[in-house]
Amino acid sequence: MNNTNHYSEDLLSNYSNLLECYPSHELLRPMLGDAITEFCHDKNKNYKILEVGAGRGESTELFIKSNMQVTFIEPSPGALAVLKSKFSEKKHTLVRADALEWIKREPPCSYEVVTASWVLHNFPAETRDWFIKECYRILKKPGLFAIFDKILQEGATQKNNDLFNKQIERLRSSKAIDQKLFKKMIAHEKRDISFDYVWYENDLRDGLDKLGFDKVIGRGRHERDMVLFATKN
Ligand SMILES: C[S@@+](CC[C@H](N)C(=O)[O-])C[C@H]1O[C@@H](n2cnc3c(N)ncnc32)[C@H](O)[C@@H]1O
Repeated sequence: MNNTNHYSEDLLSNYSNLLECYPSHELLRPMLGDAITEFCHDKNKNYKILEVGAGRGESTELFIKSNMQVTFIEPSPGALAVLKSKFSEKKHTLVRADALEWIKREPPCSYEVVTASWVLHNFPAETRDWFIKECYRILKKPGLFAIFDKILQEGATQKNNDLFNKQIERLRSSKAIDQKLFKKMIAHEKRDISFDYVWYENDLRDGLDKLGFDKVIGRGRHERDMVLFATKN
């Protein structure tokens, strides 16, 4: 179950330039933040949140409140240093680990919320399914699984190709992205639509239903990205 596809350090250190080429960052991410803060509405409760692959905390900043205690699982030392500087309160836990290994040792029913932004599409489909099953296991009842990710609409191959080309064009025309980074991003984008990695909304919804999530809601879509959350009751 080893994952070798950690988002590399050079991509993370150029992350703000890359984000400018991905409009869903501005358009959809706030919806993930809203879903989590709405779920954690009781100001007198202490909500335990697990954020997988938080990167530099772009999503965390949009949901974090004083009634939340966040555990961050992040393999990148550079990203962890940024997270440490942004979320320095003692109650939060920062762990340098591969979530695929780490999650196996986590006891069942431990978190009110498990969240990940643009992380799970980096796992091969089979690994991703297994990981989501683990997320279900460690969620409490009631619990919320909330993701923002690259999840394609099925049955629209030409449309998906057009959207892929549109994304490549955005990267190509960015003045802040050099040739080396551009090539890496093309490889990354190609891998994401390859047979072993491509992720379709219908398959995700079916999988969540089968696991026992009782409400699966797509909150918003922009091109190939969507915000989706599911509750365990
Ligand atoms: C595309 S970045 C997304 C960062 C941030 N969540 C965001 O939305 O902007 C992918 C992140 O997932 C992390 N990641 C990749 N593989 C991981 C794994 N196996 N366990 C935990 N985090 C992982 C990377 O280090 C990186 O921070």
